[in-house]
Amino acid sequence: MIRPDIRQQRLIVKPLWFAACLAPFIWFCLRALEIAGEGLGADPIEATQDYMGIWALRLLLVTLAITPLRRLTGMLWLIRLRRMTGLFALFYASAHFLNYLLPDQGLLWSAIVEDVLERPFITVGALGLAGLIALGVTSTRGWQIRLGKRWQKLHRLVYPIAILAVWHFWWQVKAVVTEPAIYALILAILLVSRLPKKNRARHAPDAEQQ
Ligand code: HEM
Repeated sequence: MIRPDIRQQRLIVKPLWFAACLAPFIWFCLRALEIAGEGLGADPIEATQDYMGIWALRLLLVTLAITPLRRLTGMLWLIRLRRMTGLFALFYASAHFLNYLLPDQGLLWSAIVEDVLERPFITVGALGLAGLIALGVTSTRGWQIRLGKRWQKLHRLVYPIAILAVWHFWWQVKAVVTEPAIYALILAILLVSRLPKKNRARHAPDAEQQ
């Protein structure tokens, strides 16, 4: 089993994980500048929207996977990567939102407010982003101390936020829902893995037959 000590975690594991989380953004910049890949295609605004959105969702799910993975493998140090991963999810979600705000809507506030109120998938996305911002702001040690026991309760909101994110993805798909369905399944597995053992037994199929 891989078990880096504190120094190795700080000097090797964390910088490597930081680079891994940033890699999709660097790849995006290289494509946008036409240094690598084939540019952003015929509709760069939509391509940016989709790319940033999907990476926000992926990293949010990776954040949720860290605790079950840690339990499953006994690699306790994995928990030290959780905050960074969550903040990267927020980073991609913010880029996704800024792309919507500026190139897409041209900062036209009346159109934005109308969109948020009248297109339910945008409302759901906005709620998800607001939740992610609240968790990002309060993710520091200072806030953890200040909020005490309430901190953990607040940070459990990450589960409803992930549901909102998958819902937002599902809702904006026009025809084939295979991709959001895969993300929904991954999220469902992660949610079940976080149920207390007693409840999990109750939800198990063979328990239902007894
Ligand atoms: C105010 C907040 C948000 C706004 C205004 C917004 C807006 C949008 C828009 C306009 C699209 C593209 C729809 C299309 O292509 O027709 C989209 C897609 C998407 N958004 Fe958001 N979004 C928000 C928050 C979020 C958050 C918080 C997440 C995830 C954590 C997210 C994940 C996604 C995903 C995965 C897609 C689909 C990408 C694809 O088709 O590959 N969005 N969003």
